[in-house]
Amino acid sequence: MAKQIEHVTWSHSYSMGIKQIDEQHKGLLDFVNDLFNHASGDERQERLYFQEVVQQAVQYIKEHFATEEKFMVMTKFPDYAVHKKTHDEFTLTVVKSVKDFEAGKRLVLEKFAYFLKDWVLSHIAVMDAQYAQYFRQIATRKANGKLTITKADVTQ
Ligand SMILES: [Fe+2]
Ligand SMILES: [Fe+2]
Repeated sequence: MAKQIEHVTWSHSYSMGIKQIDEQHKGLLDFVNDLFNHASGDERQERLYFQEVVQQAVQYIKEHFATEEKFMVMTKFPDYAVHKKTHDEFTLTVVKSVKDFEAGKRLVLEKFAYFLKDWVLSHIAVMDAQYAQYFRQIATRKANGKLTITKADVTQ
């Protein structure tokens, strides 16, 4: 019997109400699913796949964090520093893991996929949700055009 492949499905409850950020979160979950799809248990094959995609994925994560941080700075989000620190620490953890794998540490793709999935989903549900809630308040309060974020950025 074939092993059941883990799959993360986008749900409306993950929506931040900001189009660009939602698209990036979907992209991150697509990557997690791609990792699960390539978790064959054959380390040689997993490594080949990992080497092919990992740098682009790290870049994607960095760009996503930079986008959120830009929105947070724009809206003067009070918990920006804590949020940014969490992003920075996660980026360091990922970069270190990648270096370890490249240096020969045993790579279990499924494990890495779970690690990424758990972090991304809980970060969206807790920290990103706080920021999104704040942004919705701000966007409503300053709907007179003073805010550099336009209505087009908001999907709900
Ligand atoms: Fe995020
Ligand atoms: Fe975030």
